[in-house]
Amino acid sequence: MAMATATTSREPRDADIYDEAVRGTCDDASLCKRYAVSIGYWKDPYIEYFVRQPKERKAPEISRGYYARVQGVSQLLMAFLKKTECNCQIINLGAGMDTLFWKLKDENMLPKKYFEVDFPSIATRKIHNIKSKPPLSKPIMESHSGESLLIDAHSLDSSRYAIIAADLRELPKLEEHLKKCGMDPHLPTLLIAECVLIYMTPEHSACLLRWASSTFLAAMFINYEQVNMADRFGQIMIENLQSRQCNLVGVEDCRSLETQRERFLVSGWETAKAIDMMEVYSCLPPGDVKRIEALEFLDEKELLEQLMQHYCLCWATKDSCRLGLVDIDL
Ligand SMILES: C[S@@+](CC[C@H](N)C(=O)[O-])C[C@H]1O[C@@H](n2cnc3c(N)ncnc32)[C@H](O)[C@@H]1O
Repeated sequence: MAMATATTSREPRDADIYDEAVRGTCDDASLCKRYAVSIGYWKDPYIEYFVRQPKERKAPEISRGYYARVQGVSQLLMAFLKKTECNCQIINLGAGMDTLFWKLKDENMLPKKYFEVDFPSIATRKIHNIKSKPPLSKPIMESHSGESLLIDAHSLDSSRYAIIAADLRELPKLEEHLKKCGMDPHLPTLLIAECVLIYMTPEHSACLLRWASSTFLAAMFINYEQVNMADRFGQIMIENLQSRQCNLVGVEDCRSLETQRERFLVSGWETAKAIDMMEVYSCLPPGDVKRIEALEFLDEKELLEQLMQHYCLCWATKDSCRLGLVDIDL
């Protein structure tokens, strides 16, 4: 009896520690992005407002990896926005401190509505940053029309942008929040998950993918995350994160490009394509790649290749409205 009590009382604590470590990964992403932006890999005037930590040097292979990720996702996203003429919605799952909304606003490419979802503590932090920094709040006000904008410590809902505090493993609550903020299942929908699904069990992420494919009439899902994790290099990546309490509970789906594709096809998506980041890198505009390759001397070419072979972009479509989403490619 005593043993049973000890086990049950320990379990939630382990889960909490794990979730806290997962939430911490969003700071890693914004720190790396801010460093790459400061060197000139790409432009993002907003990322600095979301990073609390002092500037920290990152290895060139890390910055090039982030460059490929940001550009690769952006190319697919822009193709979706053009195909739908921005008559669509975007749902950024596990958005962390992502700045895409502000960049799209600057480029006059905002969808009808842009939603972000993350754990409550991350959503609260993001809202606090927005409220206290005019360069972040002004674009939201400018894009807002109609009734008064709803903003409190835990949620933000304007006519073009919403932050939703929710756990992606709790789908009924997630759907309720999204609907409350005006999610429209009839609008073409782009879902984005960058380094998020691997932190959920395969069962939880499968439910999320199935929910998305069955909710929207026309949709595309962009997933960026680890791949080829069964080899030695993958094992080292897993161990590195484990040492920070971060178990990659979804690693099973990241075994190969095939498992990444398959998880979408068995969850109701009609098409799915997955390519590793080496291939993504080779699809990027050669002039810009030449420019960024001149920014910093790269000693460890082999390490960069290994890193890029262990991340991938996967995109899946479902297109009951025949918008031609299947033609979207890098
Ligand atoms: C590595 S960060 C990536 C952040 C952002 N997508 C980017 O690329 O900068 C992973 C994010 O997913 C969020 N996340 C992971 N599991 C989640 C869950 N079950 N519910 C809500 N958010 C989750 C974390 O809080 C974190 O902000």
